[in-house]
Amino acid sequence: MPATVVIGTQWGDEGKGKVVDYLAKEADVVVRFQGGPNAGHTVKVGEDIFRFHLLPSGILRARTMNIIGNGVVLDPEVLLAEIAEVRGKRYSADNLRISDRAHVIMPYHRILDRLEEEAKSGMKAGTTMRGIGPSYEDKVGRFGIRMVDLVDPDALKEKLGVLVPLKQRMIQAFRGVDILSMEETFTKYMDYGQQLRSKVTDTGVLLHSYIVKGKRVLFEGAQGTHLCIDHGIYPYGTSSNCVSGAACTGAGVGPGVIDDVMGVVKAYTSRVGTGPFPAELTDEIGNHMQSKGGEFGTTTGRPRRCGWIDMVMLRYSARVNGLDSIAVTKLDVLDGLEEIKVCESYQYDGGIVKDFPASMKVLSRCKPIYKTFPCWKEVGEEGWRKVAAKGFTAMPPEAKKYLTYLSKSIGAKLALVGVGKRRDEIVDMRAKARKRSR
Ligand code: GDP
Ligand code: IMO
Ligand code: MG
Repeated sequence: MPATVVIGTQWGDEGKGKVVDYLAKEADVVVRFQGGPNAGHTVKVGEDIFRFHLLPSGILRARTMNIIGNGVVLDPEVLLAEIAEVRGKRYSADNLRISDRAHVIMPYHRILDRLEEEAKSGMKAGTTMRGIGPSYEDKVGRFGIRMVDLVDPDALKEKLGVLVPLKQRMIQAFRGVDILSMEETFTKYMDYGQQLRSKVTDTGVLLHSYIVKGKRVLFEGAQGTHLCIDHGIYPYGTSSNCVSGAACTGAGVGPGVIDDVMGVVKAYTSRVGTGPFPAELTDEIGNHMQSKGGEFGTTTGRPRRCGWIDMVMLRYSARVNGLDSIAVTKLDVLDGLEEIKVCESYQYDGGIVKDFPASMKVLSRCKPIYKTFPCWKEVGEEGWRKVAAKGFTAMPPEAKKYLTYLSKSIGAKLALVGVGKRRDEIVDMRAKARKRSR
């Protein structure tokens, strides 16, 4: 890598946090470029478990700079709590910088998130209630408060003077009963601004200085391709672009900087929230994935819906992201199943659908067409640890066949395979590829 973008290829929670933490050992800079505290990225180091909502997942690597880019919507309360948490576990967070152009999530955004969802009826996405949609609405509508305003009390006061009465009217229009206080909001948020001030800078300039020196950059995506505001299942996804191209706009670099796009692919599919899910399993196999895979929302604790892997979704992701490589995660969760199914295409209205439909009406009527693979004999936690230490050759032959199929069908190199939660429970295929090409 000089610059690698890591993105989710499905509906989020693919294991991006673990992959980014792993790759960050080789990176000089890690940049979160979109989304906000709707993200929940889990990193397990030894017995410590971190769930990052805003901190980039490279924060535990002391020599790696971590940037929250301009494309992120930032809740200062959440960020300060996260900084305190990592500091409590003896990590300094001194390696964090925040873009002065990142937008701030305000209390009225969280209130409006709830009220808008309540008003939406069948169009509800089942949001994380973190104020994501309303803060991106304000960014695009030019009603936003940016970090540069948060750290400047005069600018903050002036903007709140316009925005608080306006937001109060909106709350009432949605039949909300919440009362906003100008004074309280100003005092609280001015204090947040002062606490974060030393970390706020023009991160575009900082990142550029690394790039011109040939330093290695890792861009960390949040959510997943099928939650993307443009390319995802509209209106059930999130409010930002979650695809590789967003790394440019969300960090402030040109596309020429990026030379590797890595898609994180869970070995099955999960979804937290509403909307159609053709390969969903509501039987004991779905329960196996949910309980063995610990499929409960990292941010909200909600149970995640589970199903077989879906190649219609993944081929679409390969195309819109320009995937060069994939990191397949949670292979170990399939342990103990008799067979593995792969949804290769959909049946719809007597025909075959191979391209992911834009229409939610069509998608909700699509039935999966499966190809079946034999599963391997149970390997167990200890066994997978040994596989991680020995590498791909130590994988059961059925697992190799499944992974090779995924890589070929997606059209991207197999770079990493996750076989457990811990940082070291990963099979790294890149070293082998590099050796071969020497
Ligand atoms: P993210 O949002 O994409 O970072 O993913 P989450 O952290 O929300 O969800 C992924 C979950 O799977 C977390 O609990 C991780 O600890 C866990 N995980 C990641 N990779 C693996 C893996 O290869 N095997 C197992 N068993 N768990 C994994
Ligand atoms: P990570 O980065 C899974 C889903 C929500 C909801 C929809 C819109 O951990 O993969 P929002 O709060 O963004 O307005 O909610 O998107 N969602 C996620 N699902 N992982 C995430 O992030 C998600 N972020 C948002 O459940 O359906
Ligand atoms: Mg997550």
